[in-house]
Amino acid sequence: MQKQLKLVTLLIFVVGLIIVFSNSTYRMPGNQQNYEPIQPIDFSHRLHAGEMDIPCQYCHYGASQSRHAGIPATSVCMNCHKYVSATKEAFQLEEKESVFEGRETESITSVEISKIYEAMGYDSQGEPIEGKEGKSVEWVKVHNIPDFVFFSHKPHITAGVDCTDCHGDVSSMERIKQTEDLSMGWCLDCHRKDHESLDNAPERTQLLLDCATCHY
Ligand code: HEC
Ligand code: HEC
Ligand code: HEC
Ligand code: HEC
Ligand code: HEC
Repeated sequence: MQKQLKLVTLLIFVVGLIIVFSNSTYRMPGNQQNYEPIQPIDFSHRLHAGEMDIPCQYCHYGASQSRHAGIPATSVCMNCHKYVSATKEAFQLEEKESVFEGRETESITSVEISKIYEAMGYDSQGEPIEGKEGKSVEWVKVHNIPDFVFFSHKPHITAGVDCTDCHGDVSSMERIKQTEDLSMGWCLDCHRKDHESLDNAPERTQLLLDCATCHY
C-alpha cells in the first residue's frame, strides 16, 4: 500500500514537471527557438532554394517592400507544378517499371503535389475542375513576434541585412526551423553592432536603440 502510494506521488510529480516545462518552452512569446512544426505540404527549402537555387524573393517578394515577407500563394507553385507533377526520380522509376511490365508509361502525380492541385481546386492531372474553387494551404506560422513589438522586413533588406542573418541557412533546411530566439536582446545586439560597423551618426544609433522604434 505504502509503496503504491509513493509510486503514485512520484508519477504526479513527474507529470507535473513535464507540464511546467512544456509550458515554459512553448508559451513564452518570441522564444520558440528551434521550433520546427510539421507543415501541411512537405515543401523543401533545401530542394527549391538550395538545389534549384530559386531566389528567396521569387516567393517572398514582400520582403524588400513591406513589413511582411509573405508566404506565396499556391498559384506561384503552379508556375512550375503545372508541368512538374512528381519528382524526376519517380518518373524514371515509372518508365522503367512500364517497360518491364510491357505497358504504356502512365502519367503520375505524387501525394505531395496532389495537395497543391487539391488546394487549387484542380484534378489529379493538374487541370481545373469546372465550378470548383480553390482554397489556401494552411501553412503553420513559424516565426512570431509579440503584438507590442514593431518589426518590418523592409528597412533590413534595404540596409543589406541578409535573410541568413536572422533565419539561418534556410537553403539547407528540409523543413523550416526558427534558428534565433527573436528576443529583445537579439534585436539590440545587432542594432548596436550595426552602429560600430556602419559608423552611423550618433542620432541614427540612438534611434535604433530607442524604445519607441520597436514599441508603439
Ligand atoms: C518556391 C517558393 C519558395 C522559395 C524559393 C523560398 N521559400 Fe521560404 N517559404 C515558402 C513556403 C511555401 C513557406 C511556408 C511553408 C514552410 O514553412 O515551409 C515558406 C516559409 C519560409 C519561412 C518561415 C515563415 C514563417 O512561418 O515564419 C522563412 C523564414 C522562409 N521561408 C525563408 C526563405 C528564405 C530565406 C529563402 C531563400 C533562401 C526562401 N524562403 C525561399 C516558399 C519559398
Ligand atoms: C533582421 C532580421 C530579419 C531579416 C534580415 C529577415 N527576416 Fe524574415 N522575419 C524576421 C522576423 C523577426 C519575423 C517574424 C515577424 C513577425 O512575427 O511579424 C520574420 C518573418 C518572416 C516570414 C514569415 C512571414 C512574414 O512575412 O512575417 C518569412 C516568410 C520571412 N521572414 C522570410 C524572410 C526572407 C526571405 C528574408 C530575406 C529576403 C528575411 N525574412 C529577412 C526577421 C528577419
Ligand atoms: C521554379 C519552379 C518551381 C516552383 C516555383 C515550385 N516548385 Fe516544387 N518542385 C519543382 C521541381 C522541378 C521539383 C522536382 C524536383 C525533383 O525532380 O526531384 C519540385 C518538387 C516539389 C515537391 C516534392 C514532390 C515529391 O513528390 O516529393 C514538393 C512537395 C513541391 N515541389 C512543392 C512546391 C510548393 C508547395 C511550391 C510553392 C510554394 C513549389 N513547389 C514551387 C519546381 C518548382
Ligand atoms: C542582424 C542584424 C539585425 C537584427 C537581428 C535586427 N535588426 Fe533591425 N535593423 C538592422 C539594420 C542594419 C537596420 C537599418 C539601420 C540603418 O538604416 O541605419 C535596422 C533597422 C530597424 C528598424 C527601422 C528603424 C528606422 O526607423 O529606420 C526597425 C523598426 C528595426 N530594425 C526593428 C528590429 C527588431 C524589432 C528586431 C528584432 C526582432 C530587429 N530589428 C533585429 C539590423 C538588425
Ligand atoms: C530593436 C528593437 C527593440 C528596441 C529598441 C526595444 N525593444 Fe523591447 N522588446 C523587443 C522585442 C523583440 C521584445 C519581445 C521579446 C520576446 O518576446 O522575448 C521586447 C520586449 C520588451 C518587453 C517585455 C518584457 C520582455 O523582456 O520580454 C519590455 C517591457 C520592453 N521590451 C521594454 C523596452 C524598453 C523600455 C526599451 C527602451 C529602453 C525597449 N524595449 C527597446 C524589441 C525592442
